[in-house]
Amino acid sequence: MAATALAIQQFARLDEAETEARIAAAKERLGERLVILGHHYQRQEVFRHADFSGDSLKLSRLAAQSQAEFIVFCGVHFMAEVADILSRPEQIAILPDLSAGCSMADMANLAKVERAWRELNEVLGDADQSVTPVTYINSAADLKAFCGRHGGIVCTSSNARQVLDWSFSQRDKVLFFPDQHLGRNTAYRMGIPLEQMVTWDFMQSMGGLTAEQIRKARVILWKGFCSVHQMFQPRHIDAFRAKYPEGKVIAHPECMFEVCEKSDYVGSTEFIIKTVAESAPGTRWLVGTELNLVNRLHEQNRHDGKHAHFMSPTICMCSTMFRIDPQHLLWTLENLVDGQVVNRIRVPEVHAAEARSALNRMFEVSP
Ligand code: 13P
Ligand code: SF4
Repeated sequence: MAATALAIQQFARLDEAETEARIAAAKERLGERLVILGHHYQRQEVFRHADFSGDSLKLSRLAAQSQAEFIVFCGVHFMAEVADILSRPEQIAILPDLSAGCSMADMANLAKVERAWRELNEVLGDADQSVTPVTYINSAADLKAFCGRHGGIVCTSSNARQVLDWSFSQRDKVLFFPDQHLGRNTAYRMGIPLEQMVTWDFMQSMGGLTAEQIRKARVILWKGFCSVHQMFQPRHIDAFRAKYPEGKVIAHPECMFEVCEKSDYVGSTEFIIKTVAESAPGTRWLVGTELNLVNRLHEQNRHDGKHAHFMSPTICMCSTMFRIDPQHLLWTLENLVDGQVVNRIRVPEVHAAEARSALNRMFEVSP
């Protein structure tokens, strides 16, 4: 066992072929002690090394079921936190690059959500009796813990509908954070009109709303968004339909309301992959989600004459997912081979216990 960890600088300049071969060798050495989980937005050079791939929901289940000593998460920070929360205490969750965060998750933090809760209390009397807090899994562990403490729940883009059904069975109103679009798109498809939803501007006191607006609202949507999915516009769909009237449009629910309304299908990354794979040969798709996934979809389905077009004319990738490169993955693995753990993600138990209860409510609602 080495006394000190290998430094990342030694890996930064390695070429692709050598990195590739050394990742394979390190995986072989670590055997069943290691599992690599890869989100669908990972670049291909990293994605190909994943033992399992999936959307946020599938990966959180896999993390909970894994027996491996080391769970290396090729994704973003909140995903590795969920792996740590759901795995056994002796298991170790690792994020190959600690700067792989999620800009949407960063739009909500505990101080801002607690302030919003206090302000809701002022207007509604007792927010714990009237509002279910729902956090998208794209959020920090202490926000999941906040939901655990206040009778709330976590959702992903796959199960937001079931989670909101449960939330309204508990209380009259929902505070949904941090992604306004997932909240709005889901609530609207459940039959809640837009007039019964308000947007909480977390930069303003009382969310920029009047007491009356808060009292009347059923859904209070945090004003967060994904910088990747906000690039997709209704006019991109119009242009595609004008060119390919037979084409189909599919979008992730983090896209804005008008884009989802114009799409034929709306769903999580796993849903998008399944829907395109099961479509008729020759189908031409316009896909509103991250570029690495759309490129992979195109490659995987082209043998059937299918085409997957990226929804935006501008190239936009999730820049934080992109931070995980093969060199960081190799650095992580070779350190493990040497008996050194680098970039461990550890959620303090004080947050982990409450966050786990909000996650477990989600698993009960959406088994
Ligand atoms: P999925 O749950 O669909 O994988 O989405 C996660 C995400 O971060 C989308 O931007
Ligand atoms: Fe976060 Fe958007 Fe990247 Fe998903 S695509 S991880 S929501 S920044």
